[in-house]
Amino acid sequence: MKQTPFKANITAVGKYLPKKVITNQDMEKLVDTSDEWIQSRTGIRERRKVQKGEATVEMSTNAVHNLMKNHNISPEEIDTIIVATVTPDMILPCSAALIQKNINAVNAWGYDLSAACSGFLFGLESGAALIESGRSKKVIVIGADTMSSILNYEDRNTCILFGDGAGAVLLEPSEEFGIIDSELRIDGSGGEYLKVDGGGSLNPASHETITNKSHYVWQDGKTVYKFAVRGMADISYEVATRNNLSGDNISLFIPHQANKRIIDATAKRLGLKESQIMINIDTYANTTSATLPICIAEAYENNRLKQGDNVMLSTFGAGFSWGAMYLKWGMSTHA
Ligand code: UT7
Repeated sequence: MKQTPFKANITAVGKYLPKKVITNQDMEKLVDTSDEWIQSRTGIRERRKVQKGEATVEMSTNAVHNLMKNHNISPEEIDTIIVATVTPDMILPCSAALIQKNINAVNAWGYDLSAACSGFLFGLESGAALIESGRSKKVIVIGADTMSSILNYEDRNTCILFGDGAGAVLLEPSEEFGIIDSELRIDGSGGEYLKVDGGGSLNPASHETITNKSHYVWQDGKTVYKFAVRGMADISYEVATRNNLSGDNISLFIPHQANKRIIDATAKRLGLKESQIMINIDTYANTTSATLPICIAEAYENNRLKQGDNVMLSTFGAGFSWGAMYLKWGMSTHA
């Protein structure tokens, strides 16, 4: 439990989803799969996909504009921009710089953070540390991924699982509300089970990497599933119990959206009812770094969050990387 004069409080939220919807029926035309298989194994019905020319920076910019539309903040007040993504528009410059220009945040610094599905939670932790120390006053944390740019639409093991999207939150200091506790982990011994081999400094882009299709996501789903169920449930339970939280007083559990069955297993461990769980994997699939901020924005929009609520965030992804966070929700109910 952190003992600091200020907590990092979420004071504004925003999201952006590309217009184009790809249904399970659309996937049936691409690979040997079925709507029934996808829904029963994952909970996914459809996902979004960017149009040509649209990517992580544009989605993130739109998410921040959405945030600013709903919150009275001028861009020059933003001092830090943290962008969690595994699909930056380009290797350099970083997405944070390009977003800074688009939103005209003339006094900001920032950086990209790469931790796959846990990126946004790790970004929140980093942003919170800056707020708690007093070094930053207004931190934008973005989670955004253009997964369609790294999917092999001939591989049914992966292409049905992911979608594109972006979400953003604003962190500001508060004496009353905000992030209270968290536990975060990485373990590289899980690295071989979910990866993109090609295009990095070890295997730079070449004819060979293209031929081998190694620029695409590869996953041993069964193994990742096994670790995800245990990892997400254990760490959520650990953060919950040391803060005296249980099914009785957790208002909303907001988990990473990789598989409805992983979410259900974690929720069961915490003793939660369906009404206490935020789920939108059915409509957006797994948007990697973007699942949590999109969920937070939608939970707020749909009046599922009120001031003082106990909220638990939880995630598991490539690395392996995983974690859980407890926060006291500080925004007034959405009008
Ligand atoms: O967010 C990042 C972290 N990622 C995750 O948390 C994902 C974790 N893994 C999973 O969610 C699940 O393992 C999957 C949804 C990826 C797969 O579900 P599963 O129940 O573990 O299926 P499986 O991999 O054991 O495959 C069962 C069968 C296989 O056929 P055989 O070998 O039994 O004949 C697969 O080839 O299902 C087959 N299969 C498919 N069939 C239809 C695999 N993908 C598909 C598909 N459509 N899209």
